[in-house]
Amino acid sequence: MLKNKKIGFIGGGNMAEAMIKGLLSASFIEAKNVFVSEPSEAKRDALHAEYKIKVSADNRELVKKCDILILAVKPQILQEVLVDIRSLVDSDKLVISIAAGVPIAIIDDALRGDKNKKFSIVRTMPNTPALVQEGVTAIASGQHVSKTDVKIAHRIFEAVGRTVDVEEDQLDAVTGLSGSGPAYIFMLIEALSDAGVKMGLSREVANTLTIQTVLGSAKLARESGKHPGELKDMVTSPAGTTISGLHALEEGSFHTTLMNAVEDATLRSRELGKIALNKNSTRRGAK
Ligand SMILES: NC(=O)c1ccc[n+]([C@@H]2O[C@H](COP(=O)([O-])OP(=O)(O)OC[C@H]3O[C@@H](n4cnc5c(N)ncnc54)[C@H](OP(=O)(O)O)[C@@H]3O)[C@@H](O)[C@H]2O)c1
Repeated sequence: MLKNKKIGFIGGGNMAEAMIKGLLSASFIEAKNVFVSEPSEAKRDALHAEYKIKVSADNRELVKKCDILILAVKPQILQEVLVDIRSLVDSDKLVISIAAGVPIAIIDDALRGDKNKKFSIVRTMPNTPALVQEGVTAIASGQHVSKTDVKIAHRIFEAVGRTVDVEEDQLDAVTGLSGSGPAYIFMLIEALSDAGVKMGLSREVANTLTIQTVLGSAKLARESGKHPGELKDMVTSPAGTTISGLHALEEGSFHTTLMNAVEDATLRSRELGKIALNKNSTRRGAK
């Protein structure tokens, strides 16, 4: 599906590198068909040396050559990057954004300018475990995206983990759950490891026990397909140790605390999206 396509990453930072690594190691695409435009010479050299891909300092040169554009710059500079390349982007190119919180409408507006063009735009929300090919990416498609382009987007992100389809207005909830989720899990890991140390284990042993417990439990939940409540019951014997631990967690409102965390992060993401849209419409109104 991707074999004859040329993919261009605008921005050669952490996420772009994770995706390039995943795409090449899964043999989804050949290095000669991967392009990166990136201002830092050191990053360009490192990407070329490691992956033998084509690198450039010029976003416009990359856009001319590629069929698929991955917008992998920070959200704050996305608008200026789009305005710079817009005369070279036509409706045959698939535009995929990974920029957090930038709505499809803003990308479309910036690309269109005062022209009446239709663009194939996909907005995604990956997460940091993509750096080790265990990410999860939610994919929302704009109105002019074909079924083939949706499949292509899935294929690209399958190189760094799993994918799900969502409506664009669900991306705030995705941000609150899987986007911010790694931070919740890292906090859980730190807390469990601290608890092990408090109970007399060395830090090294506590870390190993904690990390493998989190990884193994996630794998068991995924591979067994069982409801997490059933898996929990399997390790909870009457009057045993686990039920005592679970009681303590519930005294600390474990369930409610996590639900509140996802809710608050979702609402914050929604708020940031509204600020971005308002800024954009003020800018357009000022023209
Ligand atoms: N990391 C995550 O967990 C995560 C998760 C979901 C979504 N995202 C999104 O992914 C995007 C990239 O994030 P990241 O973590 O990969 O950031 P990053 O490492 O900072 O990568 C962005 C890259 O873009 C380069 N750049 C700056 N100005 C440019 C320009 N005008 N043209 C082309 N490239 C330019 C930067 O170069 P310099 O450093 O030299 O300025 C940097 O190498 C962001 O929009 C972020 O919201 C990230």
